[in-house]
Amino acid sequence: MSKHSEIRKRNNPDRTHDPKIKINDLKHKSKSKQSFTKPSNLATIFLMVIVISGIGYWRYQTMLKEVVKIPLGVHKINQDNSTSATVNPDRFWGSYRPNLYFGMKTRSPQSPLFGFMWLTQFAREMPPPVRHWCDQGDSLQKYGWLKHDGVNFGIQELEERTYKIRTEFVKRIGGQHGGDWTARISVTPKGSAKETVVSLMFYVALDGQGTLQQELIKNRLSAVTGSSEELGDFSLSFSKQKGPNSAKYNHLISYVSRLDKITDLVKNAFQVKAWDKEHTLPFFALGGRLVPRESPGGPNIMVYQVTVHLPSEIEIVYESGSFVNRPNTLSGDIFQQELTKYSTAFDKRFTKTFALEEKGYNSADIDFAKAAMSNMIGGIGYFYGSSVVQSRYNDKPIEYWPAALYTAVPSRSFFPRGFLWDEGFHNLLISRWDSTISKDILSHWFDLINIEGWIPREQILGDEARARVPVEFVVQHNENANPPTLFLPLQRLVSEMKGSTDPKDRHFLESIFPRLKTWFDWYNSTQRGSQPLTYRWRGRDFHPKHELNPKTLTSGLDDFPRASHPTVDERHVDLRCWIALASGILADIADAVGKDSSEYKATYAVLSDNKLLQTLHWWPQKQRFADYGLHTDKISLVKPKPPPNVHPNNLPPMQKERMVKAEPTYQFINAFGYVSLFPFLLKFVDPNSVQLFKLLGDLKNPDLLWTNFGLRSLARTAPLYNRHNTEHDPPYWRGAIWINMNYLTLGALNHYAKTEGQYQKLANGIYTELRNNVVSNIIKEYRRTGYIWEQYDDKSGNGKGSHPFTGWSALVVLIMAEEY
Ligand SMILES: *[C@@H]1O[C@H](CO)[C@@H](O)[C@H](O)[C@H]1NC(C)=O
Ligand SMILES: *[C@@H]1O[C@H](CO)[C@@H](O)[C@H](O)[C@H]1NC(C)=O
Repeated sequence: MSKHSEIRKRNNPDRTHDPKIKINDLKHKSKSKQSFTKPSNLATIFLMVIVISGIGYWRYQTMLKEVVKIPLGVHKINQDNSTSATVNPDRFWGSYRPNLYFGMKTRSPQSPLFGFMWLTQFAREMPPPVRHWCDQGDSLQKYGWLKHDGVNFGIQELEERTYKIRTEFVKRIGGQHGGDWTARISVTPKGSAKETVVSLMFYVALDGQGTLQQELIKNRLSAVTGSSEELGDFSLSFSKQKGPNSAKYNHLISYVSRLDKITDLVKNAFQVKAWDKEHTLPFFALGGRLVPRESPGGPNIMVYQVTVHLPSEIEIVYESGSFVNRPNTLSGDIFQQELTKYSTAFDKRFTKTFALEEKGYNSADIDFAKAAMSNMIGGIGYFYGSSVVQSRYNDKPIEYWPAALYTAVPSRSFFPRGFLWDEGFHNLLISRWDSTISKDILSHWFDLINIEGWIPREQILGDEARARVPVEFVVQHNENANPPTLFLPLQRLVSEMKGSTDPKDRHFLESIFPRLKTWFDWYNSTQRGSQPLTYRWRGRDFHPKHELNPKTLTSGLDDFPRASHPTVDERHVDLRCWIALASGILADIADAVGKDSSEYKATYAVLSDNKLLQTLHWWPQKQRFADYGLHTDKISLVKPKPPPNVHPNNLPPMQKERMVKAEPTYQFINAFGYVSLFPFLLKFVDPNSVQLFKLLGDLKNPDLLWTNFGLRSLARTAPLYNRHNTEHDPPYWRGAIWINMNYLTLGALNHYAKTEGQYQKLANGIYTELRNNVVSNIIKEYRRTGYIWEQYDDKSGNGKGSHPFTGWSALVVLIMAEEY
């Protein structure tokens, strides 16, 4: 996770990379003209050359500006119709709006949106807050999917202070437009909070295309019928509430110009009405038909509202008009039967896939694991739009081509969009559950590669996604990398597919290969260091003013300390290991599809060579792997001196500045932590080496990384341990425990415990202890707080940062299952 994206530095000297576009044509043309030269009309020729090269130069410049947004010129893996109702009806509909507490849409660019909202009437807060997008500020005590199979159904629970909401959905395939689904929403009071009155709302909104008509029964919105190009005719019926007390029905029929403005529209459409006959209790009710005159083509959003005493329950039934031979309506008992059927199948498959009983976990622990995995699967979204990108040739950011992305997200509340390096970790888990889903996700990501071989690392696609990111962080720069973690799930998928006789598998490998090749070349050329066979992350600030240690957002490890003075000569050990890993897997894929693998094998051999690794990255004095660069530990942040002759009351706000108190020198960087572990994490260290022995010892040392809750990111003894990076920028990867890195560590320990060598026993002992620590702390915190967290505090084990964070923290399921 990179907290927030790119640092913009347009005049950064740190540029070594030119787009690999063929400009020979143009050069060639001007050359061939010159061959007609005759002395007599030399002046004319001279002029022509100037004009032609002028035009050539202009065209060249224009082309350079465009390069960043040209898709790679090989067959896309996904056809444009690959997610359509005809080609892939199974996963056409889904809860693909992870940024919402509950919403449904299709995997198509302009899907109508369906979503759930609620509010507590007569609450202390005025106006009562409307719950819609997942928001930590709502302070729900808990929420997340308990079961979700990524295809057929999902069961979610949300907890307010005084009541619980359950959202369940089931799909049914049929007809030509993706079939039906039904959602059931039930509310139950907690303890004795029966007095609570809640409004449940459910809406449908069109994305620029189609029509909607309301059906009213005694002024109750009973159904919406509609049609769109892709869905054909459809209907959405709202049941009467099922509860012991009477309820009030209201609705809104309106027009919204942008789909990220639905919450505002609804909030503004509330009117105060009388709840009781005596007119003493006012409640908030939607105001009926409110279609602004300037709306083109009538209403595009309809919202159903029912206000109920607890407990209560409603059903929302979506039916596709083309589904003509449906046996019955998916509601009531039929809905319950289907839900039970899928839920039972889910339990069986979960047991078979992860076998947690055999690992000694009790049913409460297993329910936790189901919830962790389901929230990762249920957090999968479908996004469509253009990234905003910039290269050194663009004065201003420009739009990438509009593209679709089917992807999981790190956090439904805080990071509800695609992140490149998170996604590799996500798919380690997803691919175990459903490799079809995983391959589909990976294909979508690989289709985002541009002609240079670059993939923007944060995918902010569509209005809803953009609405959540401050403008200055939206732009993605094309010299910036991010760890190519998509190779991690590929490693296993490829080894499975190599032996497979299914032509689909071969086709998958064949279609990803040319893209992976280009992707690899991009890393191997744009991120290389100044010395042969060294690598360096781009995107660091060469002239930091406020940062104790300039961040390396591109590495994914944000503020993990690197050289204090970024230069082109530094070398980063983690990046080297990532590229080594990638070259090894590419060699495998090349072999599997019958292509020449020798270059990848050669690169893999050099990059995994322990002698060379030690020459470049083993710090003999401290006996550990490290980055190398221009560095000093003697830097601090100080308040700048106020400018002279300014009255103290008129002083501008002054941020602390970086003060360097000793000349930096080239050296290994004194920051033992996750970065130092990489040669081990990715299993390059020789099992019989002193290096492995030393590293294993260091792992267990509580003064360094060891805690009772998992491995902390930076040693307690490191100079920047737990330090702010600027006056306002708190530590992020400087002490806290992160689950993706603990997962890799456990994978490596497990590997060395099983690989013939001198330290198998030692590795195994540490493995067992670390695994227990990580699993028991995450479960303990889930029970205490209701959530899985972004990080865990290294002193208390408490969950920290954003939540729910069921991106890579959900890898705890694989740790429980011992699947690495
Ligand atoms: C999907 O698109 C491909 C390529 O354009 C085409 O060959 C195929 O027939 C289409 N499939 C369907 C079901 O429309
Ligand atoms: C990676 O880059 C190095 C040069 O830095 C080159 O020698 C090697 O062949 C490249 N590997 C591949 C597979 O292209």
